[in-house]
Amino acid sequence: MKIACVGAGPAGLYFAISMKLRDPSHEIEIFERNAPGVTFGWGVVFSDLTVDNINRNDPVSGRTITDEFAHWDDIDVHIHGETITSGGHGFIGIGRKRLLEILCDRARELGVALHFNAESDPADPKWHDYDLVIASDGANSRFRDTNAEAFGVDIDVRKNKFVWLGTSKVFDAFTFAFEETEHGWIWAHAYRFAPDASTFIVECSEETWKAFGFDKMSQDESIAACEELFAKYLDGHRLQSNASHLVGSAAWLNFRRIRCERWASGNVILLGDAAHTAHFSIGSGTKLALEDAIKLAEVLNRPGLSLQAALDEYQAERNLEVLKLQNSARNSTEWFETLGRYLHFEPLQFAYSLLTRSQRISHENLRLRDREWLEGVERWFWKRATDGKSNKTAPPMFAPLKLRELTVENRITVSPMAMYSAVEGTPNDFHFVHYGERAIGGAGLLFTEMTCVSPEGRISPGCTGMWNDDHVAAWKRIVDFVHANSTAKICLQLGHSGAKGSTKLGWEGNEVPLDQGNWPVIAASNVRWSAANQAPRAMTRADMDAVRDQFVAAVRMGIDAGFDMIELHAAHGYLLSSFITPLQNKRTDEYGGSLENRLRYPLEVFAAMRAAWPSDKPMSVRISATDWAGEDGITAADAVEIGEAFAREGADLIDVSAGQTWADQQPVYGRMFQTPFSDRIRNEGRLATMAVGNIYEPDHANSILAAGRADLVALARPHLVDPFWTLRAAAQLDYRDVHVPPQYLNGMSQLARNLKREAEAAAALRV
Ligand SMILES: Cc1cc2nc3c(=O)[nH]c(=O)nc-3n(C[C@H](O)[C@H](O)[C@H](O)COP(=O)(O)OP(=O)(O)OC[C@H]3O[C@@H](n4cnc5c(N)ncnc54)[C@H](O)[C@@H]3O)c2cc1C
Ligand SMILES: Cc1cc2nc3c(=O)[nH]c(=O)nc-3n(C[C@H](O)[C@H](O)[C@H](O)COP(=O)(O)O)c2cc1C
Repeated sequence: MKIACVGAGPAGLYFAISMKLRDPSHEIEIFERNAPGVTFGWGVVFSDLTVDNINRNDPVSGRTITDEFAHWDDIDVHIHGETITSGGHGFIGIGRKRLLEILCDRARELGVALHFNAESDPADPKWHDYDLVIASDGANSRFRDTNAEAFGVDIDVRKNKFVWLGTSKVFDAFTFAFEETEHGWIWAHAYRFAPDASTFIVECSEETWKAFGFDKMSQDESIAACEELFAKYLDGHRLQSNASHLVGSAAWLNFRRIRCERWASGNVILLGDAAHTAHFSIGSGTKLALEDAIKLAEVLNRPGLSLQAALDEYQAERNLEVLKLQNSARNSTEWFETLGRYLHFEPLQFAYSLLTRSQRISHENLRLRDREWLEGVERWFWKRATDGKSNKTAPPMFAPLKLRELTVENRITVSPMAMYSAVEGTPNDFHFVHYGERAIGGAGLLFTEMTCVSPEGRISPGCTGMWNDDHVAAWKRIVDFVHANSTAKICLQLGHSGAKGSTKLGWEGNEVPLDQGNWPVIAASNVRWSAANQAPRAMTRADMDAVRDQFVAAVRMGIDAGFDMIELHAAHGYLLSSFITPLQNKRTDEYGGSLENRLRYPLEVFAAMRAAWPSDKPMSVRISATDWAGEDGITAADAVEIGEAFAREGADLIDVSAGQTWADQQPVYGRMFQTPFSDRIRNEGRLATMAVGNIYEPDHANSILAAGRADLVALARPHLVDPFWTLRAAAQLDYRDVHVPPQYLNGMSQLARNLKREAEAAAALRV
């Protein structure tokens, strides 16, 4: 094949090398706008896995690169005058300039023609003479932008400003240095890439950048200001830029996250940064470029594969990898953009939050990297959780939490789950076994399913209720069992179905009206849940009084039944949620319009319940922290205000769920997908929160808790199939102090032994 590569960055060069290695008869030319040896930037970092990939693909260049790597293990986080050092991170760095020299030499050796000072114009007719034109022309790709529609380009310009500098100061550890100034916080990411040189990236918010006057400074002035700001880390070494002599380079930049729906159009194929970018804070841009190059060369040389099939496979396979990395990179980008949320953390927790920011590194990963450091974090967590009384080194999920005078034994909760199995609202033997089993399964706190305050407030005929004495007696039997046979606490979730009421049992048709015997439904406004559901009647003030009083009556019954805690269900599109979300609330009175107005009635109900509930016992509220409807619905920022408003009325915990507030929601699912909302409410609102949503491993729970993203972790579906989830986690983590029913002690110790043996065998296999 006759191939042109535009751009002699890592992508273009490595693609040319990888093609020639597979078939030397390919004719490959590279066109680079800059002169040889002239490039932007300083060092790049790789993981061990990337090194394995390049060694396998081309052992010759792999060996030269590996010989010149700078290795380091530690990460230093400087914050609030302290330095937190953790080890075992295993980074590898090399100068970008040196990497490109090695790749240029190798490409030449393999017969690739390199043309420097060759600015390439996408409109030039010469590109038609090539079978393929590889657009490896970087993040600002002209080849991509002149044909943006064909590639389906999506560019997200991020908020912070950064400048990529270098220095002769040699950092022993990967260094994050955060400095508070009169203009706001500014920080550096610094790492060594050669025996005498380090990369030094300075980053800050746009406001801080402007307040410093960086927008009006020349490059030299900016550098001088950064030298002064970070003088204590530089030990007299200077900062330098090598961007000034390059075409189209600026000193300070905003990171641009680039994504393309299609990576090929006509004979042009996007490779590396031209196709996708990953934020510099996860250091994976060069890795992606090299791995793209390997993959593309591999599919193009696969016998029997047509060109189109090869390109399809290239994108299908690489896209998945890129999306995963871009997701992690987005988490990391956002962490730095919302730094203010975490600055009140103590330095140790701040460092933990920083290390786990992308969600690629978890609690147990950190234990493998630096056990001693991680155990220090665990001790710190336990000390805080127990007002300094405990010196325990143990997983955070087993630490207690005090809410008012109630102590929850550990941080795992059974999330509320409707069982649709009651008759006339009365829980029965199924509920007795269901809740009893989950209580002895080890969770610290059990939530009941949404228990309805009136017959009309039920979702389905099978919902549990709290409106008569039978209900109190049946619930009391369950609560008494929980208290007598476990250390779990039990919280009554109270709700009213609103427009989502009068529907079938969950498994007979979710949100589908009954075939017969429907009852009239009420909501904030006359807005149907869906075309198939009944039109609700918009509540009058008399309705509001009646429903508020039903909630209060249910709270009093909850006291009689012996519950430890009450939760108000104000999420998922049910009655109170229909007031909060603008998608359901179309009222024009003082209960509609602004968020303040929309919250008025739910807050009134909560306040009345709080007044009826003993002041030494806690209350929580479940909210939907987003409507998954963009700016048209509740946003994550609104959710902070909602949490704060309920906290002012006496809520001790915000149970942070999301969505289900309108039928056409567009959720973004994934592991722990709702936890970022909890993080935001907890750390912007400084409120206690519970995270929920696709959290299923002990490692998830421990990472969330230690990083301060929530105070409690709720699991719903995992508990449906495994009531003993918490005890199993204790066995897995070899934590002995959890309460095990004496009847089950033998099983627990056997499970712990077996899991330990299996873990040791797996570790031995890895070695
Ligand atoms: C601050 C910062 C820190 C980073 N840190 C890391 C890190 O630690 N680890 C890591 O792996 N990655 C890092 N990256 C990302 C990394 O630099 C890129 O992801 C990587 O270089 C992408 O390689 P590429 O070949 O696709 O593009 P580039 O390296 O950008 O190469 C594109 C080449 O094309 C040339 N070119 C562009 N247009 C034309 C034209 N019209 N005609 C001719 N030539 C043209 C350019 O001059 C350039 O040489 C960082 C990036 C930034 C901004
Ligand atoms: C069968 C089932 C019933 C549920 N019923 C309720 C409920 O009554 N009240 C409530 O607030 N959430 C309810 N939920 C939502 C869960 O509490 C939880 O928020 C959701 O399932 C996400 O958590 P998970 O990924 O751990 O399952 C229910 C979920 C399931 C699977």
